Amino acid sequence: MEASMAMAMLIGLVVLLLVLTRALLRASAFPREMDGIPGSLGWPFVGESLSFISEFSSPAGIFSFMNKRQQRYGKVFKSYVLGRYMVFTTGREASKMLLTGKDGMVSLNLFYTGQKVLGPNSLLQQNGEDHKRLRRLIAEPLSIDGLKKYFQFINTLAIETFDQWPGQKVLVLEEASTFTLKVIGNMIMSLEPTGEEQEKFRENFKIISSSFASLPFNIPGTAFYRGMKARDRMFEMLDTIIARRRNGNDLQQDFLGSLIKKHNKEGKDDDEKLTDAQMKDNILTLLIAGHDTTTAALTWLIKFLEENPAALDRLREEHMEIRSKRQVGTSLTWSEVNNMPYTAKVVSETLRRATILPWYSRKAAQDFEINGYSIKKGWSVNLDVVSIHHDPQVFADPFKFDPSRFDDHLRPYSYLGFGNGPRMCPGMNLAKLEISIFIHHLVCRYKWKALEKDDSVQPTLVRMPKNKYPVFVELL
Ligand code: HEM
Repeated sequence: MEASMAMAMLIGLVVLLLVLTRALLRASAFPREMDGIPGSLGWPFVGESLSFISEFSSPAGIFSFMNKRQQRYGKVFKSYVLGRYMVFTTGREASKMLLTGKDGMVSLNLFYTGQKVLGPNSLLQQNGEDHKRLRRLIAEPLSIDGLKKYFQFINTLAIETFDQWPGQKVLVLEEASTFTLKVIGNMIMSLEPTGEEQEKFRENFKIISSSFASLPFNIPGTAFYRGMKARDRMFEMLDTIIARRRNGNDLQQDFLGSLIKKHNKEGKDDDEKLTDAQMKDNILTLLIAGHDTTTAALTWLIKFLEENPAALDRLREEHMEIRSKRQVGTSLTWSEVNNMPYTAKVVSETLRRATILPWYSRKAAQDFEINGYSIKKGWSVNLDVVSIHHDPQVFADPFKFDPSRFDDHLRPYSYLGFGNGPRMCPGMNLAKLEISIFIHHLVCRYKWKALEKDDSVQPTLVRMPKNKYPVFVELL
C-alpha cells in the first residue's frame, strides 16, 4: 500500500515537473516581432505579474497599472503578465476595432482552463458565422419579452431575501450571490429556491466557478481537477432534467424547456438545431458569464449608493413615487420595472465606475495594425476598459459617482458597461431586470451603513470588494 502511494506521488511529481517545464519553455518563447511595441516585459518568467496583481487588488484598481504605462509608452504597450505576452490598448478607435472584429480579425481569448471548463461548444469559443448562429439560438429567451415570465419569481425572491436583513450584519456580496444564482437556476431549469437540488446546483457551480481561471494542472487535489469533476456532476444533473422533459413528465416554461421544444422539432434544418452537448455547454456558459458579473454589479451599486447620499436620495425618490401610485397591498409590476429612468443611469454609472470586467481580451486571428503598431496573428490583444471609462475628456471628474452624467448622449464605444459589437452581453436585460427589482425593494424599505472602510478588491477576473461589503441594515 505504502509502495503504491509512493509510486503515485512520484508519478504526480514527474507530471507536475513536465507541465511546469512546458509552461516555462512556452513562457520564454518571446515573439521577436514584439520588439516594435513599446513596453517592458519585467522579470524573467514572472514578467510584470506581481505589480499587475497587486495593483488590480488595490483600491485604485488596475487603472494605476495601465495609467503609469500609458503615460510612459502611449496608448499601445506590451507586457508579460499571468503567463502570457500581452498587448494592451485603449481609446475609442481601438475599442471599435477590437470589439467589432470585422472580417474575423480577432477571436475571444480564453485561458486554457476556461476553455476546458466551458467546453468546446460554448458561445465563447465560437467565431464568425458559427458564433452568430449560436448566439441567435441561445440569446432569444434573454430578450425583454422572453424575460417577462420570470418577473414574478425574481420579485418574490427579492422580497424574501430582504425579510432576513433588518437588525443584522449582512455581507452584501454573499446575499447578492445567493440571489442571482437562485434567479438563474430558476430561469434555466425551474429550480426551486430551496431544497436538495438547489444545494447540489450551488455547490457544483461554486467549484466550477473557482476553477475557471485556475492553474492548468488537471491532477487530483487541484482546483482545475475539482472543477472538471463538478462540471461532470452538473451535466449529469442537466441530463436527468432533459430526459424528464423529453419523457413529458416535467413540462416547464423555462429556458431549458424552450430550447428542448425548439430543437426537437422534426424536419428542421440541422443548422437550426442545437445538440444536447451544445445546450449543456451553453447553459454552463450563461451561468459562468452571468453570475459573478451580476453579483458584483449589485454589490458595487449598493456600496456606491451608501457613499453618495445625494444619488441615493434621488433614486429613492424615483422608487417612492412608483410605490405611491400603487394600490395598497400590491407589489411592483412589469411595466413599472421597465420605466425607471434614474435607476437605469445608476446602473450605467455603477458599471462605469466599477468596470467589473476591466479588460476585454482578444486573440489576433490575422495580422493587423492598431494606432500604427503591427499586431501579429496569434497575439493576445487586450482592450483596457478602465481607462476608457475614466477618460476625463468623456467623463468629467471621472472618479466621481454621478449617474446624471448619463443624461447626455455618449458617442458609441466610449462607454462599454456591457461591451459592444457582436459579443455585446446577451444577458444585459436579465442583469438590469434583477438589479432594478432588487434595488426597488431595498431603497423603498431599508437603510444601511457600511461596517468597514476597506476599498480593496479581490484578485479575481471579475472585480468585487474583497471584504464582501459588510453592512448593518435597518427598516426605514
Ligand atoms: C451586470 C451584469 C453583467 C455585466 C456587467 C456583463 C458584462 C459583459 C461584457 C462586458 C461582455 C462582453 C465581453 C467582451 O466583449 O469580451 C459580456 C459578454 C457575455 N455575457 Fe455578460 N454581463 C453581465 C451579465 C450577464 C448575464 C446575466 C448573462 C447570462 C445570463 C451574461 C452572459 C454573457 C455571455 C454569454 C457573454 C458572451 C457573449 C458572446 O461572446 O457572444 N452576462 N458580458
